[in-house]
Amino acid sequence: MLKLNNIGQCVTYNSYLGKMDVQKDIEIIIENDLIIEIGKDLKSTDNIIDCNQMLVTPGFVDPHTHPVFWDTRVKEFELRLQGRSYEDIALSGGGINSSVADLRNADESDLIFRLKNRMDRFLHLGTTTVECKSGYGLNTESELKSLKVINKVNSMHSIDMVPTFMGAHAIPIEYKNNHNGYVDLLVNEMIPKVAEQGIAIFNDVFCEKGYFDLKQTQKILLAGKKYGLIPRLHADEFQNSNSAKIAGELKAITADHLMMVSNEGIKALSENRVIATLLPGTTFFLGKKDYAPYRELKDAGVDIALATDFNPGSCTIQSMPFIISLACLYLKMNILDAIKASTYISSKSLMLEERIGSLEQGKKADIIIWDIDKVEKIPYLINYHPIKNILKNGVSVFTS
Ligand code: NIG
Ligand code: FE
Repeated sequence: MLKLNNIGQCVTYNSYLGKMDVQKDIEIIIENDLIIEIGKDLKSTDNIIDCNQMLVTPGFVDPHTHPVFWDTRVKEFELRLQGRSYEDIALSGGGINSSVADLRNADESDLIFRLKNRMDRFLHLGTTTVECKSGYGLNTESELKSLKVINKVNSMHSIDMVPTFMGAHAIPIEYKNNHNGYVDLLVNEMIPKVAEQGIAIFNDVFCEKGYFDLKQTQKILLAGKKYGLIPRLHADEFQNSNSAKIAGELKAITADHLMMVSNEGIKALSENRVIATLLPGTTFFLGKKDYAPYRELKDAGVDIALATDFNPGSCTIQSMPFIISLACLYLKMNILDAIKASTYISSKSLMLEERIGSLEQGKKADIIIWDIDKVEKIPYLINYHPIKNILKNGVSVFTS
């Protein structure tokens, strides 16, 4: 048994009340991979970590990333600095499709190496569980390869990775004149094969003008559902295409981005208990001004999660603490709500809230012991994340 004692501030969560709090004089006892007790004046144990009056929080859960790619797309960043937009660059040969050829040619072992390094970085930034999408293969062989790589790295890395099939990330070039032909391939071949191999939990679609329209999105998500893949959605990112409404109708677990969501869309999310996963890093990285309407979503009673959206095109940020800073500054979230959105609610968006996402008895001991004394310093320090120790499944996986 291991005890964390001499904790300064501890970010606790009561899932019955749905409340995240900062408490003092808390101690935590861990046995194997689980928190078996959390409270005041607990019994003593053989092993002790002295937290030196520093802050303790749950590990971060990042519920939206695209980490299986070959190379950066730094050229597109330069083009945006010259005034071009993400949408315009994608239309003229850049964007998602420009990452596809490399991935198709890549050796599985090289992809594993790259993905593993990216996972090291996520973990060292305090992320203990990360959702990982495929979506740069865009044919059966390369989508299966991407998901296999995610599952392989997951089996050898201490971070937990949750695989999402995203064959519907873009229309591949070979189908540019036959969009419905690609939708048929997704529905009739790719989804059944992914399900048969049991290598993904979720099915995600980029529902956006120039990518997949409402009807196609519906078809792909329903086909996934039939095979046990749970729908999540890239919704209303660059334009309002009413995709939040579809997310509601299909009872998707989460609708993500939502920079352009309408009031009607917000109502559909709220009525159908769809989580809104907000990605302020993408708005920031693309140099855009319109952040998702957090206040309206919150007032409508929608649960809000935060994620990085890490990918080579629209957001290279891997740090959840930095995303929390952006959420506070630009979405005007209060600090504890931003932390709740990055831990408990993000675990809910991965349907893992009974196991991770908060420091509670019976949950996994995925814990960050910080080298700062106050929770407010997480967003305040912006690009500096002083972490003393990260426990994953009760084992120390990073110390500084
Ligand atoms: O979430 N929106 C779709 N997918 C990514 C962009 C991926 C890329 O540009 O490679 C996103 O922003
Ligand atoms: Fe995304």
